[in-house]
Parts: sequence; C-alpha cells; structure tokens
Amino acid sequence: MLSGKTVLIGITGAIAAYKICELIRLFKKNNANVRVVTTPNALNFVTKTTLEALSQNQIYIDQFNIDEYKPEHIALTDEADIFIIAPITANTISKITLGISDNLLTSTYCAFKKPVIIAPCMNTNMWENPAIIENLEILKKRNIKIIEPETGFLACGTEGKGRLANINVIFETAKNILLPKQILKGKKIVITAGGTKENIDAVRYIGNYSSGKMGIALADNAYKLGADVTLISTVDVKKQYKTINVQTAQEMYEAVKHEFNNAHSLIMAAAVSDYRVKNISEHKIKKDGNPLTIELIENPDILKEISKNKKDNQIVIGFCAESQNLIENAKNKIKNKGCDYICANDISKKDIGFSSDYNELYIIDKELNISKIEKTDKQNAALKILEEIYGLCK
Ligand SMILES: Cc1cc2nc3c(=O)[nH]c(=O)nc-3n(C[C@H](O)[C@H](O)[C@H](O)COP(=O)(O)O)c2cc1C
Repeated sequence: MLSGKTVLIGITGAIAAYKICELIRLFKKNNANVRVVTTPNALNFVTKTTLEALSQNQIYIDQFNIDEYKPEHIALTDEADIFIIAPITANTISKITLGISDNLLTSTYCAFKKPVIIAPCMNTNMWENPAIIENLEILKKRNIKIIEPETGFLACGTEGKGRLANINVIFETAKNILLPKQILKGKKIVITAGGTKENIDAVRYIGNYSSGKMGIALADNAYKLGADVTLISTVDVKKQYKTINVQTAQEMYEAVKHEFNNAHSLIMAAAVSDYRVKNISEHKIKKDGNPLTIELIENPDILKEISKNKKDNQIVIGFCAESQNLIENAKNKIKNKGCDYICANDISKKDIGFSSDYNELYIIDKELNISKIEKTDKQNAALKILEEIYGLCK
C-alpha cells in the first residue's frame, strides 16, 4: 500500500517510546521504507538494535557523524515523504516550537518542509502546563498535525490525559496524508500504452519507439486514485489492476471497444501505427537480390472512432507526439479527432517523451484552453494530468 513512500520516524525520550516498535512494523508491513531518527535520550527507553532490526535501516542519532558529503538532517529531509515524531516529549515540543536545533532530531525537524505529525505523551501535569499548551497552539497554526494523547492510566501511576495515542490512529493519520485521495473511485478508466507492432512476416514487424511508460504511469496513478483501471498495453506488465496485452492496432481497437462500452473514460496514451501490412507473409521473407515492396493499408483510427461513438457522459483523452508546431498540431488534432482532451508532448526534445522517464506536456481541451505540465518524471506527470483533467486539483 505504501510502497515507494519513505516514512521518517522521530523518537524522543518518553516512556511510550517502546510502542513505536509496533508503528515501525506496521509501516514495514505496508511496504514503506522506514528511517528512524532518535534523540540521545530516547535510547534510554528503546534500544538501537531493536529499531535497526525492525526498520531494516541504520538508526540516526548523532548529527556530527556526517555520512559522505551530506549532513544527515539534510539527507533525511530529502528522502522522507513525512516526518512522524512519536512519542514527542514536552522538552522536544518546546524546542521545535522555538526552532532550537541542538540534536539530529530537532535539526531534521527544522529543515523539514513536508508534512509533520507529532504524537505527544507525558504526565497529565506536564500536558496541562501553559507553556506546552501554548507551544502546541503555535505548532497547530504552523500546520503540524497533532495527535493528542489519550486519557487513561499512565506509566507514572496516575490517571489522566497524557497516554500516547493508539498506534493504529497514528498509522492511519499518516496513511491518509501519504496516499492520494480516492478521487476516481467508482470510475472505470481504460488506458492504452505502448507502441503497436504490425507484422510483416513470421519474424518481423513495423513498430515505433514508444516505451509505454507514460500510459503505464497513468494507469498506476488512476489506480492509486481509486479508479477501476483496465490497461490495454503492448508492453506485457503484471499489475494489481486489469491488464490486457495486445500487439497490433486492430487488436487494440477490439479491446478498447469492448472495455470502453461500460467505462467512464478512455485515455489513449499508446502510439498506434497508422498503417499495417496488407499481406502478412506466413513465413520469413527471404532476400532475393531485388528491392522488397511492402504494401501498407490504413489502420482504424481508434481515437477518432471511439470519440465519434461515445456516449455524452463518457470522456475521451488523446495523446499526440509532435516534433514541430506542437500546439498548433495538437489543436488541429483535437478538432479532427473529436476527443475531449489532447495531451501534447514535444518529441524533438531528447530529455523528455518517448523512452525517457520524464515528460513535459500541454493539455488542451475542446475549447482550446491550454494548461502546461512542467517537466517532471512520468509518474508525477501522470498524477498531474489526472488531477487536471478530472478537474480535481482546483
Ligand atoms: C522514566 C522516565 C519517563 C519519562 N517519560 C516522559 C514522557 O512520557 N513524556 C515526556 O515529555 N517526558 C518524559 N520524561 C522526561 C524526558 O525524558 C526528559 O524531558 C528528556 O530531557 C527528554 O529529552 P528529549 O526530548 O531530547 O528526548 C521521562 C523521563 C524519565 C526518566
């Protein structure tokens, strides 16, 4: 569920520190990469060996133990998607409120710009101390997510508020921040990917340079956003969602027609061959010293045909790859094909598009409004395209 996410867990010197072993296990069970930074005092309550074994990573404690060229508090902030300080002591709450950075954990906090969750735990009298109340108010205003302690029997032998929140509550809060909202739930989305291959004979085909990365990234992200995804791809991939492996434009057309029938939208990210070989040779064509002529006939225009026959509530999104006059050609294409959106990318740029892991795109709608997705990796570009098109980023 959380694969690809890095969770940085900060542990301070509070009695409930041992409970964080269970939190680390939960994140690991959900495939997150877990990094742990502790205050020196935290190691009075939980051992480095336990934390190392559970997180399967080095534990960070000392800010003067500089690894390679990067100070650890900077390296940790770069890598992590979220910082959870649990339990956080009254002492560390007060330090981070003031920006004090006297150990690796507080320095890391000071340099951290992504979401932060803190889960305090302390004796009830400490919890009710005006300094702590005011500091927590300040942190709340700075958008720090505070998971308040529970009321109950405390380790110091008294009853009251101050017991660390349930580990599952901390985990679920983090998960909700880390995972994209299920904004495409209930929508069936058909996505095509890869370049079609048109057979010439038993061993040869006409293909193109499409890697399928953009279409697969769109399918991955639509799935993460809750869509019921069907990926129709020339690249054979195993995914948690439905995949149909095809080779030729005609096979792709048949699969798209069948799947789109009850779908909400179609995203045609595949590079479909305009032509196919009229007479495919059953056997390998042998050279005989003469020029070889292969007659090509037009393939069905999947984007155009599907757009023509779609229901009013269905959305069709096309892609175009142009090496010149990108916007002008994309505008012509949307008019000519009759689809709802075109995502246009410039294949003359060597660092983006086709086989690259990066892309930069323009999204053009039927009214010819244009929005730009700046150069980013294809997974992120896919997320931005989905947010933009489904109107959910506004
Ligand atoms: C046995 C014991 C338990 C403690 N439990 C807590 C606690 O639950 N919450 C808290 O804020 N401080 C607690 N403290 C006090 C902190 O350990 C102390 O304030 C320390 O300076 C915190 O350092 P740190 O914030 O750098 O980890 C406890 C101290 C001891 C000796």
